[in-house]
Amino acid sequence: MHLFHSLFDNKTLDYDTSEYDFSGLILQQVQNHYPEVTQLDTIHEYMDTSKLFSLGHTVNRELYSTNFYQMFDEVVSNYVSDTGIDILIQRFPSIRFLPPNQDKSGRVLQFHQGRWVGNGLGLYTVWMPFTECFDSNSMQILDLDISREITRDAIRDNWDYETLENICKKYMWPINLKPGQAHLFTQEHLHGNIPNRTNKTRVSIDCRILVRDGQFHRKWPGSYFRPLNRILSKKPKFNESSENIVTYAEYEGSKTHNLDLHYQTLLVKDYCRRAGITFPYQHGENEGFNRLNNLENLVKDTTIDHILMMSIYSLTDNPEHRVDIMRKAISNNIKLHFCNEDMILENEQDLEDVEYLRNFTTDTSDPVVQLQKELNLL
Ligand SMILES: [Fe+2]
Repeated sequence: MHLFHSLFDNKTLDYDTSEYDFSGLILQQVQNHYPEVTQLDTIHEYMDTSKLFSLGHTVNRELYSTNFYQMFDEVVSNYVSDTGIDILIQRFPSIRFLPPNQDKSGRVLQFHQGRWVGNGLGLYTVWMPFTECFDSNSMQILDLDISREITRDAIRDNWDYETLENICKKYMWPINLKPGQAHLFTQEHLHGNIPNRTNKTRVSIDCRILVRDGQFHRKWPGSYFRPLNRILSKKPKFNESSENIVTYAEYEGSKTHNLDLHYQTLLVKDYCRRAGITFPYQHGENEGFNRLNNLENLVKDTTIDHILMMSIYSLTDNPEHRVDIMRKAISNNIKLHFCNEDMILENEQDLEDVEYLRNFTTDTSDPVVQLQKELNLL
């Protein structure tokens, strides 16, 4: 882990823009909507900047039908490959368009660090600009030592946001980069934005990776992360008139124990909505009664074609039992749908993929609690 800390301690990654023309690809997608735009950093001159925030989402969605993310995986992979450490990469990174004077619409990213926003310390961030970024249009960051010191002072002394912002502004520096470069930092680096007074829009992506055995906290392998160079999600196909579809919920797993039925159901309902089917009959486990007894029954019931469940974490934490349940489903030709990950178990390869994600790390510790303990606050 120390190796990754040094590779991501405010370091710069360089890549060849003639081989990986990310900016060109993004510009192409933008031009599909706004043909008059010739440069990403002047895009605000051609549209109402309130539309720019949603344009980021649209462009990002459309990039999935190009080779953008294949190339992005390659660039990240090249940077970390010498470590020999296995990583997962964020499934849906964010592409952000930051126009000049974003403070006028109340959209200045406050200073924060990863562990405050659900990230375990086994995550590392790749921040890549697609326009030249400098001064106030870039992200502002602090050195690691001072970030750690400020974080501890802020928690120990219960600072308010204003105090945190003011102190961070004393130590921050802008990440000055151009296309062909990315900035790398850990979940302990404090960072944020200030009002952009450069009259140039900044376009960037922020993408997190998770190292093998790393602390992941609220960013689950499978839903938040996928394996590098691989897409595991599948588009489901249902025939409602001829197939038996059911859904299943439980509270036995370490990740599902505190997720009440309403929230589990919402995820499955959204999956059904996207697949264009009605929400099916809901089975459930009897909490505390013979663990996963009902799922055992369901995967043996050959009248069933599909079982929809919230997540790969709805399967038991016991690896042997989990594999046994998946094998029974496969041999009985019952498809298991994991709605949070958009994964479908149909064959042995799918089973291996589920196991790869479930076994990627078992570090379920909490970085927020860790820090409170370190400061003797618990
Ligand atoms: Fe952040």
